[in-house]
Amino acid sequence: MKMTKYKDKVQQSVDFLTKWHGNAPEIAIVLGSGLSDAIPKIQEMKTVHYNEIPGFKNSTVQGHSGDLRIGTVTASLSSGNQKTREIAFLRGRNHAYEGNDPGEVVHNLRSLITWGVKGIILTNAAGCLNTEWELGKMMILTDHINATGMSPLNGEYGIGFGAQFVDMTESYDKKWQSQIKEIAHSSNHIIYDGVYYGVLGAHYETPAEIRMFKTLGASAVGMSTVLETIAARQLGAKVAALSCLTNYGAGLKHVQLSHSEVMDMGTRFASDMANIVLKAAVSLEI
Ligand code: HPA
Repeated sequence: MKMTKYKDKVQQSVDFLTKWHGNAPEIAIVLGSGLSDAIPKIQEMKTVHYNEIPGFKNSTVQGHSGDLRIGTVTASLSSGNQKTREIAFLRGRNHAYEGNDPGEVVHNLRSLITWGVKGIILTNAAGCLNTEWELGKMMILTDHINATGMSPLNGEYGIGFGAQFVDMTESYDKKWQSQIKEIAHSSNHIIYDGVYYGVLGAHYETPAEIRMFKTLGASAVGMSTVLETIAARQLGAKVAALSCLTNYGAGLKHVQLSHSEVMDMGTRFASDMANIVLKAAVSLEI
């Protein structure tokens, strides 16, 4: 595959990861801000901070470095069996609203997949567009609408990772969707499904925009995930994505939105989501 400056930087990250850990885990989970602290303590978890990995893009939102953790997770499945798998956790992500260009947004994830990760579970906090749904619950993505005006496959960023004109017909793996729903139901959790509308941010939407997104068939809105899904699909990784519904979209319930309230809701329901995500990560078929 053709080498570009950008691809070279990804390769530097991959070389580091190989030296640091050897072979890549099969599955990686991208943890949105509220979820990063919810993963239970796993013995012998290895940690490296983003700013220690050559080429890795550090996150500016949390005020501290994000980190990559790798650990062996054991989960009890509904069959009663226990399963174990090595999982990589990207704790903290880079958003386009921080001023990152699309190549930077997906650099860390792209490096993990280039290293050898085969399946990705993306998590995020999102505004809920369906007023009959309950906040604090999860929505599994069946599809997305990319309204960021960006693509991680633009120009140099799209070269050297696979086809530049990537098919997005079935971006979120159907079998994984039903497996994750089953996992949620078997632990008595409500899980909705629907289309995620990906915006650039960082402002929240106007009520008119929210009405438009609903009319277009979306059920949740958020400022991440869509670019990561595109990059993962180009590299042929399987993708599942889960939103924690933290608030109703602007104007739907006549309350004003604040970042701290969205974060609080995300943190309150993080352990439910972490449970499902960990079980999924251990048991999904690659
Ligand atoms: N809009 C966009 N992004 C979000 C929202 C929202 O209402 N809630 C959480 N992330």
